Amino acid sequence: MRTLWRNGRLVTLAGSGWCTIERGAMIVDGPRLQWIGHDTGLPRDLQVDAEHDLGGALVTPGLVDCHTHLVYGGQRANEFEMRLQGATYEDIARAGGGIRSTVAATRAASDETLFDSAAARARALMAEGVTTLEIKSGYGLALQHEARCLRVARRIGRELPVSVSTTCLAAHALPPEFEGRADAYIDAVCAWLPALHAERLVDAVDAFCENIAFTPAQTRRVFDAARALGLPVKLHAEQLSDQDGAALAAGHQALSCDHLEWLSARGVRAMAAAGTVAVLLPGAFYFLRETKLPPVQALRDAGVPIAIASDHNPGSSPGLSLLLMLNMACTLFRLTPEEALRGATVNGARALGLADRGTLAPGKRADFAVWALEHPNELAYWFGHQPCRRVVVAGEERR
Ligand code: NIG
Ligand code: FE
Repeated sequence: MRTLWRNGRLVTLAGSGWCTIERGAMIVDGPRLQWIGHDTGLPRDLQVDAEHDLGGALVTPGLVDCHTHLVYGGQRANEFEMRLQGATYEDIARAGGGIRSTVAATRAASDETLFDSAAARARALMAEGVTTLEIKSGYGLALQHEARCLRVARRIGRELPVSVSTTCLAAHALPPEFEGRADAYIDAVCAWLPALHAERLVDAVDAFCENIAFTPAQTRRVFDAARALGLPVKLHAEQLSDQDGAALAAGHQALSCDHLEWLSARGVRAMAAAGTVAVLLPGAFYFLRETKLPPVQALRDAGVPIAIASDHNPGSSPGLSLLLMLNMACTLFRLTPEEALRGATVNGARALGLADRGTLAPGKRADFAVWALEHPNELAYWFGHQPCRRVVVAGEERR
């Protein structure tokens, strides 16, 4: 099936700047972009099965949300209230709430409930032009429950018109049955990975390296087990304190390090040397009322690619709008609107190891969104506004 999309204002992001083609056309062949250029440059003898006039509308690459925790049971509005009364995120976690309370609710939920709730969240993200979604486990924390959550993530990718990348985050928190035995839990996580990998449930392996979670030494063991299976790694690093996690992750050729408010100059250098993407998560920064900003200028100076993601989860970022994250990346972290859009397209894709998407160029996946906007800088400007009009995923229009 060959389709022609013509008369669009195409923001390709395929070079430096927005790379806008006015009155642009795209020829889509099956799931891929075959040709992109000015309407006037279309081959004269072109034969297509269908043709769409975009009416001058703005088109961008489909959005990539490269960091979500979409599969979980329950919610934690009570902890939000506790924090409003003065408790900190760390206090709540140390008292057995936080991630552990979501683990209890997730284990108690049926597969159907987990799927239905995660699918509803995925649809909310997709409505704003998301065509690729990363989904982490990390609220099961037992082999059977981590596998269940990853199967739900895979099912979302099969049943919804969105491409899903899965990440195993079994090293997210210490489950109650391993209280006081963190090293034994890490042994267990390392032993689960081959089975999860054999079932093709894992595209990458993540961990939470933090004083309320796992040490660098424990994180290293998880990374060694992942790399031994050929799986790429990523890390929740330097969110609440500097654990030197980014340098550790970069030493394992991590695809990304995420959060990074406490990232050191040494961490920046290590990430630059390894080509690791910095995934900034303004939703968690905002919702936890953090004050320490990630070192954006140092990342720019070192040439570290910056991605932006929702970090959707019930504890630190219960939001379902990637466009709001673009706005917050600009207002809170001072990214430019172009950096923010690159963060949720080409650099988000890179954080997932996906080189086939994130720009509009021949050979890339035909993933794009059509917007009721004049200029791409408006994607980071409006908030609480839904300007997405049409979405095409792997060449097919989403209905
Ligand atoms: O990315 N930092 C660790 N994990 C999540 C929060 C998990 C939770 O509070 O449920 C995050 O912020
Ligand atoms: Fe996260």
